[in-house]
Amino acid sequence: MRFPAEPFRIKVVEPLRRVTREERERRIREAGLNIFAVSADSIYVDLLTDSGTAAMSDNQWAGMMLGDESYAGSRNYFAFEEAVHSIFGYRHVIPTHQGRVAENLLFSTVLKRGDIVPNNIHFDTTRANVEHQGAEAVDLVIDEGLDPVADHPFKGNLDPAKLERLLAEKRDRVPLVMLTITNNSGGGQPVSMANVRATHEVCRRHGVPLIFDACRFAENCWFIQQREPGYANRAVAEIARELFALGDGCTMSAKKDGLVNIGGFLALENAAWAEKVTNLLILIEGFSTYGGLAGRDLEAMARGLREVLNEDYLAFRIGQVAELGRLLDAAGVPIVKPVGGHAVYIDAKRMLPHIPQAEFPGQALVVALYREFGIRAVEVGSLMFGHRDPATDEMVFPRLELVRLAVPRRVYTTEHMRYVAESVIELFRRREQLEGLRITYEAPVLRHFTARLEEVGRGATPAPAKPGRKVASGAAP
Ligand code: F0G
Repeated sequence: MRFPAEPFRIKVVEPLRRVTREERERRIREAGLNIFAVSADSIYVDLLTDSGTAAMSDNQWAGMMLGDESYAGSRNYFAFEEAVHSIFGYRHVIPTHQGRVAENLLFSTVLKRGDIVPNNIHFDTTRANVEHQGAEAVDLVIDEGLDPVADHPFKGNLDPAKLERLLAEKRDRVPLVMLTITNNSGGGQPVSMANVRATHEVCRRHGVPLIFDACRFAENCWFIQQREPGYANRAVAEIARELFALGDGCTMSAKKDGLVNIGGFLALENAAWAEKVTNLLILIEGFSTYGGLAGRDLEAMARGLREVLNEDYLAFRIGQVAELGRLLDAAGVPIVKPVGGHAVYIDAKRMLPHIPQAEFPGQALVVALYREFGIRAVEVGSLMFGHRDPATDEMVFPRLELVRLAVPRRVYTTEHMRYVAESVIELFRRREQLEGLRITYEAPVLRHFTARLEEVGRGATPAPAKPGRKVASGAAP
C-alpha cells in the first residue's frame, strides 16, 4: 500500500446517478460551457471544492440530534467554545456561518481606508473583504511559492524579509498581518513552524497582531509533523497549540477542517476587538451564542474540529490527495509540485501548449473532463483572473493557468480517485484534440461564475440568461 486505506467504513450511502455522454454534452452546452451552471446531479465525481462538501461522521450526526435551539446560551455553543479553546487557545470565540463572515467582521472592525494587510497569499474572499474596506491586500509569499515546479517542503511560507521591509516603511498603515494555513491560492501549500515563528517575531518587533486564516490548520500541522525537523514525534493537536500560541487570533471556515457542511468562527485575544465584532455580529448574523447557525450546527462543528486532528484520518486524507497527484505525475501530466493538502492542480498551460491563454486552456480542460467523464473540476486561470488593463484595454493574463481537483473530505473512495486519474490521463493522451474557447457573455465582476463560452471552431451557444456584457460571437475575448 502506498498510503493508508480508508480509516472508516461506510454506514450511509448516497447513490450517484451516471448520465450518458450525450446528456452531458447537452447539459454543458446549455450551460454555455460553464461548469458552475451544470446541475450537480449530472456529475459523477465532484471536485469543484473541498469546502462544505465533507461527509460527517456518525458521532457528528449523533451530535446533531442533541441540538439545543435556545436563542441564547445553547449548550452546543459551550461545547463549541470549549473545542475552540482547547485547540486554538484564543480567549474570545465568535461563531459565524462561514469563513468570509469572520473576515468581514474582523476587517470592518479593524481596517480603515488606506490600510495594508499582508498575507502569504490572500484567498479571494479575504482579498475582497480587505478591499471592501478601502484597504490594500498584499501577498508576501516566498518566491518558490509562485513557481509551480519549485520543490520546497513549505511553499506556503511568508517571506519575513519582505514583511520586515513593509513594516519598516509603512507600519502605521498595517493594523494586522494574516497568515493562511495552508496557502490555498498557492496550491494548498503548508507553512512551517519556523516560518510562523519568524513571522511572529517580525510582528512582535513592530507591535502588529498576527491573525491566522486557519481553514486547513490540521492539514498544515500534519505537514509540519511529516516534514519539519523536530516535529516527527509530536501529536498534530500539540503542534496546532504551539502554532496558534504564536498568533493573536484566527478566522476560520469550518467548511474545510471543521468537517462540517456549514460553519465558521472568529477567535481573538484582543477583548476590545472582540467586543466590537460581537456587536456587529448581533447586527448581521445573530446573537453571540449562535452567530448564524443552528445549535445542531455548532455541535457538529465542535465534534468535527476534534475529529480532524485524528492522525489516522489525516494520514489517509493527505495520502489520498498525494496519491492522485502521484498517478498523474507518473503518467507525465504536468501538475503543481509538491502536491498540496486538499487538491491537485493541473498545469493547463503546459498540458495544452497548442491553446493560447486567450482561448482558456484551463476551461477547455474543465469542459472536457465533464463532457467525457462526468468529473467536475474548477479553472483557476485566465477565465477566473484574466482582465482588461483599464489604461490600454489590452487583456492581462495570470501567470498560472491551473485546473484544481479539490478532494472533499471522507466522501470519495480510492477507486473514485483512480477513476479521476485514469480520466485525466486519457485526456492527456489525446490532448491535441482539445480546442480553445472564447467568451460570448461576461459579467463585469467575478466573470467565471456566470460567463458563457463557445468552442473557437464551433457554432454559438444559446443566448445568455442574465444581463451583462454580450460579446459578439467570433470576437476575440
Ligand atoms: N480562506 C480560505 C483560505 C479559503 O479557502 C476559503 C474558502 C475562505 C477563506 C472562505 O471561506 O467559503 O467559508 O466563506 N475556500 C473555498 C474554496 C470556497 O473552494 O477554496 P467560506
